[in-house]
Amino acid sequence: MKIFADTANLDELRKVAHIIDGVTTNPTLISKENRPLGELIDEICQVVDGPVNVEALSTKENEIVEEARKLSKIHRNIVVKIPLSDEGLKAVKRLSREGVNTNVTLAFSANQALLAAKAGATYVSPFIGRLDDVGQEGMALIEDIMTIFSNYNFQTQVIVASVRHPVHVLQAALIGAPIATVPFAVIQSMLKHPLTDVGVERFLKDWEKVKK
Ligand code: E4P
Repeated sequence: MKIFADTANLDELRKVAHIIDGVTTNPTLISKENRPLGELIDEICQVVDGPVNVEALSTKENEIVEEARKLSKIHRNIVVKIPLSDEGLKAVKRLSREGVNTNVTLAFSANQALLAAKAGATYVSPFIGRLDDVGQEGMALIEDIMTIFSNYNFQTQVIVASVRHPVHVLQAALIGAPIATVPFAVIQSMLKHPLTDVGVERFLKDWEKVKK
């Protein structure tokens, strides 16, 4: 299973660079960094050697394609996030033929994910936390999408997105989701267990008693 970091913060990325396989950003995360987009993305690509997802903001097919081409020139690892829409899927189809990697984002239903896969998206991002927020079971959507992709042997990879806590990551792993994109704080809590801390402390104390 691949773990992407869902952050555009360079300090956070440096701290987890040894753990993660890629990065996802979005306009909200980028806006927190107060830096020109190109410069920030270029630096992220120097810190993390893996797919770096950057969102296109255009809403019409031709403009999305143009923006995606520009973004993909920043670095060979760029994946262009394109929000799910009819115009977006037209752009994805063209970009996939050109070899530009795409991530169809803001997916909230299995049928949307199916259409993204048929358009040739490299990745699709179902937002499970936001579904949980409105009383739907986000993880059930991941199971449905995984079944559909396996039924038809789609190559599009599912990125479990809008992850809110470590149990989301655990459930995604049990389902066999290929990728989860995880906020920095959640990566930190995946590392920690109180019994590990207590155990290390006790071993260190007992070691002091050993004749050396
Ligand atoms: C994924 O690519 C998105 O950046 C992210 O997971 C959105 O999560 P949120 O619902 O916490 O904003």
